[in-house]
Amino acid sequence: MEEVQGEKQSSRLVLVLYPFQGHINPMLQLATILHAKGYSITIIHPEFNSPNPSNHPHFTFISIPDQLVESGVSLAPGDFIDRVLALNKNCTAPFQKCLERMLDDDQKHPLERIAGVVYDCFMYFVQAVADDLGLPGFNMRPTAAAILLFSVVPHTEQESIFESQISELQPLELKQMLTSFSMNPSDNMKEMRAASLNAIRSSSGIIANTMEFLEHAALSMIRQYSPAPVFTLGPFHKLAPSCSTSILQEDAHCISWLDKQAPKSVIYVSFGSMASLSKQEIVEIAWGLANSKQPFLWVIRPGLVHGSEGTELIPDGFRQKVGDHRGFIVKWAPQREVLAHDAVGGFWTHCGWNSTLESLSEGVPMLCKPCFGDQFLNMKYICYAWKIGIQVESELERGKIQGAIKTLMADIQGEEIRNKAMELKRKTILSLTEGGSSLSSLEEFTKQMLSI
Ligand code: UDX
Repeated sequence: MEEVQGEKQSSRLVLVLYPFQGHINPMLQLATILHAKGYSITIIHPEFNSPNPSNHPHFTFISIPDQLVESGVSLAPGDFIDRVLALNKNCTAPFQKCLERMLDDDQKHPLERIAGVVYDCFMYFVQAVADDLGLPGFNMRPTAAAILLFSVVPHTEQESIFESQISELQPLELKQMLTSFSMNPSDNMKEMRAASLNAIRSSSGIIANTMEFLEHAALSMIRQYSPAPVFTLGPFHKLAPSCSTSILQEDAHCISWLDKQAPKSVIYVSFGSMASLSKQEIVEIAWGLANSKQPFLWVIRPGLVHGSEGTELIPDGFRQKVGDHRGFIVKWAPQREVLAHDAVGGFWTHCGWNSTLESLSEGVPMLCKPCFGDQFLNMKYICYAWKIGIQVESELERGKIQGAIKTLMADIQGEEIRNKAMELKRKTILSLTEGGSSLSSLEEFTKQMLSI
């Protein structure tokens, strides 16, 4: 930080959360990274799903009214567009007031000025407020950078560009995704896309939770089209290892259970914070795991099956088949610690982007069952571009599950996948060492902040 007349001047960054677990985690991790670089941090968040300030004693937390519950917006994963629109509409005025108040305080304490605002890409209203108040805004992407191609490549060019795309991007089948996106988009979807593109265009930069080697082709294409620089500081969780971000209580007992398992023997099963499954799918997963003979750690989050605790749906006979020691079920796990544990040899995932990065950075190969949204693109990256996972058929059936677990964990067929996963772990470590792409990108970001 700069010296002003012998006194230390520090800069404050304001970070704005989108209040769902898969977005809260990367934003708080990014806050931790930036705090370690010397910035003071203020987190502004909607009241809904407030993070726990006591986990981050060095940050200032400010809650703003969001009227989410009062607006009667559905919290189902499929209704996220309505939720995003409601938050952007309801939070604009309280956020503007809050930021104006902070800027007034700046006048009184000139040694700590607001240097910029970093916002989750779903909270795009923040960019317009930052522009209005003359502050630089940075768009934080908690998803794969490739998702940005649907925004930054002009609509008129998307079809032909995606058709003739370079070979590294072919496994993503972007043209096919474009066709499904373009089919009858609702007015709400059009509104959200236009507003979020405007935010990207006027931002001072994009901060992506990804790595250069992982999305090289997508990042080059994005940089051709985006006027804003793209900073790739991922995986955030590896640069902020001690950051605690869970809204649900983590059950640490599973770590002592993992301690007793053989190296690389356990399949970890979790479908993130929002995905839902049917009762029948739980039954098929249960029998697939039981019959696989493989030790497993299974997260059954309350609400994973709509309106249920989930565990009561486990079929009769399952526990006898599994015995007392082969399986462990929790409501919520310390996932990053689980994936870094020696005993874990595979991860059956819904392919959320955080889970994807957490798994690949530990060299853990994946079984993939995407459920909604960006998870389908992530699955294509994992299974067909990076080749560190196996796609599970969308209709879950116990015999096929059992077969897929065996292939991933033990068969000769799975060996290439397991080796490839270890190779990506090594490349991740390189990105995070001195001179590696993620650390260099962090330096570039801080340089740009100084120049602003
Ligand atoms: C969603 C989208 O699926 C994801 O692709 C997007 O980028 C963010 O929003 P979610 O479905 O929750 O997120 O999945 P994911 O991105 O994997 O995030 C889940 C987070 O919860 C991970 O950081 C994971 O470590 C954590 N988690 C999950 C736990 O801490 N414990 C658990 O038991 C399960």
